[in-house]
Amino acid sequence: MAGIPFDQRDGEIWYDGAYVPWTDAKVHVLTHGLHYASAVFEGERAYGGAIFKLEEHTDRLIESARVLGFSIPYSAEVINDACNQLLVRANLIDAYVRPIAWRGSEMMGVSAQANTIHLAIAAWQWPSYFAPEERLKGIRLDMAEYCRPDPRTAPSKSKAAGLYMICTISKHAAEAKGYADALMLDWRGQVAEATGANVFFVKDGVIHTPKPDCFLDGITRRTVIGLAKARGIEVVERAILPEEMEGFEQCFLTGTAAEVTPVSEIGPYSFTVGDITKTLMEDYMAAVLPQEPAKVAAVG
Ligand SMILES: Cc1ncc(COP(=O)(O)O)c(C=O)c1O
Repeated sequence: MAGIPFDQRDGEIWYDGAYVPWTDAKVHVLTHGLHYASAVFEGERAYGGAIFKLEEHTDRLIESARVLGFSIPYSAEVINDACNQLLVRANLIDAYVRPIAWRGSEMMGVSAQANTIHLAIAAWQWPSYFAPEERLKGIRLDMAEYCRPDPRTAPSKSKAAGLYMICTISKHAAEAKGYADALMLDWRGQVAEATGANVFFVKDGVIHTPKPDCFLDGITRRTVIGLAKARGIEVVERAILPEEMEGFEQCFLTGTAAEVTPVSEIGPYSFTVGDITKTLMEDYMAAVLPQEPAKVAAVG
């Protein structure tokens, strides 16, 4: 079910400025990032050979590190180039791209001031699935037990590895009950997001979505808000209480991986896959396609 393990694949990984064989891209067990979650990452997607919103992802990666108190020792330009080159070298057209930066091994304790900051970038094939029949049924979400933390207790503006601990626990618990994912409330009890995607609702032709004040303001989220507004659809960013889900007609998730995914159920609440959701699914798939032909080179 899981396919080839991610540490045993073929290809190359960009690792601290060099291309290394995929299976050699390793860290030592005494790595600060592993023990103390001092790591930040990005999830990017290439469509037709071009990474959608690459610059925004790279800027967020650099900012995520800054929030955790470290500086990635490569410029945005170098990182963007490395992401693009990786695709070209591997002949990848529709792909997922995963940059990750972490504190190394020089010091092993809470304090790690002297640790080298590393950066690796991997990319692998991820076909774009346009066959929407399955997705059009909508996915089912459970309510998560964990809440998105107060920004005073966690660096919520950072796409930090440590923040995914509660996401994995919540997603596993939902999957064990037959759901696709879980909806997390925030520390105030307001609707926040799913475990790896932002959430939107529709009622009376208006879109409602929580303000991203304690969770990631997704790049897809911002794109979809722009697409909705371009269609003249009103988008209200506000605090949403879980009881309000009773009155919402449509619901969908947004994210680099999720794209625009309709939701049919969240706990006791049901939604239909309506016109606004379908329109935004289509508009998003049109928006992600590259404006220029793919820069694909045959690597011998
Ligand atoms: C927790 C979480 N929220 C939201 C998102 C959506 O962000 P984006 O649209 O930038 O992929 C993601 C995906 O990266 C995520 O992991």
